[in-house]
Amino acid sequence: MTATDGDEPGADLLEDHLALPEQLDAARREAGGWAAPEGVEHVVFAGMGGSAIAASYAAAWADAEGRLPVDVVRGYEPPSWVDQGTLVAAVSYSGNTEETLSVFTRARDRAGARAAVTSGGALADRARQGEPVLPVPGGHEPRAAMGYLFARTVEILEAVDVLDPVEPLADAAKTLEGLRPELASAAEEGNPARELAASLEGRIPVVYGAGLQEPVARRLAGQLNENAKHLSVHGTVPEMNHNDVVGWGGLEEAGRLAAVLVRDPEEHRQVAARFEFLEDLLEDRGVPTVTLEARGTSVPGRLLSSTMVADAASVYLARRKGVDPEPVAAIDALKERLAETGFRGELLD
Ligand code: F6R
Repeated sequence: MTATDGDEPGADLLEDHLALPEQLDAARREAGGWAAPEGVEHVVFAGMGGSAIAASYAAAWADAEGRLPVDVVRGYEPPSWVDQGTLVAAVSYSGNTEETLSVFTRARDRAGARAAVTSGGALADRARQGEPVLPVPGGHEPRAAMGYLFARTVEILEAVDVLDPVEPLADAAKTLEGLRPELASAAEEGNPARELAASLEGRIPVVYGAGLQEPVARRLAGQLNENAKHLSVHGTVPEMNHNDVVGWGGLEEAGRLAAVLVRDPEEHRQVAARFEFLEDLLEDRGVPTVTLEARGTSVPGRLLSSTMVADAASVYLARRKGVDPEPVAAIDALKERLAETGFRGELLD
């Protein structure tokens, strides 16, 4: 029996998290169905939460190997510099997230082109009045549709000639397929996700990533919050070496914290030295430190391998705590409260 079998809480969610290669493959099979606009000089993705993080991964890939600048906006307004050379692509799994709808709507007269990645909702309705919609299948939690959302955001970058993703994605799928049996195993030993979950129980995790792995640190903290209902925050190396590192040095509450260091096989050697310093400092303070090592050789392989460990760990931590990983009641309640303000009406212009 594997960890995804049976009636264990979050079995569907875990299955989705471990189906990253199949999600990538399904989305890639449908790729290429839209005519990319000419003259794009800059791509801006708009999104929130489990949708925005997919765009952040695509942007991190573009930072590493791409040909044009790619930004991600998490908020209500498109940046003031959005102009005719900018493609604004809204990414919202549900299609009903007001911040994302707001950027999409407000970019209409300024951006050179717009596109939408969504399973439906108001975003699909609005985009279908003239803009391409890159669909993702419905019926999942947004955070559990990472493979679909990531593949679609990458498809946008491919279409405007920012990335050549075919070979790197094939390499990523192999890396993920090789890793998956370890993560699905019911034994703690040798399962990096179960080991990570065990080390975080009863502690507040602070997750640090550097360079390519920065969005993975954000993803892990997000998944621990949403799936395990476990408060977690993230930061970045080397920036934290210029501020947080002092805070860790003087901390009296260290007994309640744990650190997770998300490491990359190709990280800058000075970054490696900084992580080693941090490990020593945290050991001195008695703070348990866990390293999450990315695997693979391609950029998406390195991004998604650490993600698959992070995602599975968040479900295993939920199970250890006896909480249901699926519902995100606070997000739902907040969206309901905000729906009462009438703001969405302003967007329907
Ligand atoms: C829920 C989740 C959330 C949502 C966010 C935005 O699974 O991950 O972080 O992604 O509330 O909603 P969407 O993705 O529908 O735009």
